[in-house]
Amino acid sequence: RIVYCAGQFVPEEKAHVGLFDRGFLFGDGVYEVTAVIGGRLIDNDLHLARFKRSLAELAIPLPASLEAIEEVQQTLIARNGLVEGTVYLQATRGEADRDFLYPEGLVPTFVAFTQARQLVATKAQKEGIAVALAPDPRWARRDIKTVMLLGQVLAKREAKASGFADVWLTQEGQITEGASSTAYIVTSDGKILTRGNSPVILPGCTRQALLKLCERHGLMIEERSFSPAEAEAAAEAFQTSASSLVTPVVRIGETVIGNGKPGLLTRALQSYYLEAAG
Ligand code: PDD
Repeated sequence: RIVYCAGQFVPEEKAHVGLFDRGFLFGDGVYEVTAVIGGRLIDNDLHLARFKRSLAELAIPLPASLEAIEEVQQTLIARNGLVEGTVYLQATRGEADRDFLYPEGLVPTFVAFTQARQLVATKAQKEGIAVALAPDPRWARRDIKTVMLLGQVLAKREAKASGFADVWLTQEGQITEGASSTAYIVTSDGKILTRGNSPVILPGCTRQALLKLCERHGLMIEERSFSPAEAEAAAEAFQTSASSLVTPVVRIGETVIGNGKPGLLTRALQSYYLEAAG
């Protein structure tokens, strides 16, 4: 695989980041994941805009213009012959001797790579998944897409050990979001609920694109938080992300959702999203 590191396209074995990189020592950096379907970047303007915002929130300079960053992404797709998968971008504050406080003038470390993987018509998308519920262990600024992901790593590992494919996180009696996805339910009267954007969740790019499609198709949306009890009583449930697209959730904890199969509205949303991507 050809990756992008230190301003160059190099084979992955030749790519190295320094010991004193603050991404490594402090989790002091941000990332993005964009889907590639049919060799094309999906919702990439939204991902690049969020990348820029995440960096600005941490006062890390944008490592290159958004146009130049997209050129890196496109070059990686072409050089690796990527048809379906993801492109990962990461920028950290840069390298400096270890200290919580950082000196002025650091040069961000910017890397990017592709991952070939099936994104469309996966088993999870066709059959739906079971998600666990667990307390949200993360910090207070989840709207910033930082590489500080230990909460998600541990929550997902725990869920997997208990036989679940993924996990939805809870705080103050409400679901915040999935460990790496946006959470939605459909009420018995056909309304789609998903939490409004705030520092409590990551503002999903797939969410933004999907809500637009819902509006276009005249579907009812309500942006508000919902409780585990509401989710367990829902007619349908699903989650979205760049890497899972629209994935039905057919069990939450021990509670089967609907008839245990992907819901009709969820399946309609899967095809609307793919249509728009195609
Ligand atoms: N995760 N919420 C969290 C906590 C996430 O990590 C993600 C994405 C999302 C969905 O965002 P989007 O629709 O923009 O992908 C919501 C990516 C895929 C990851 O960490 O690999």
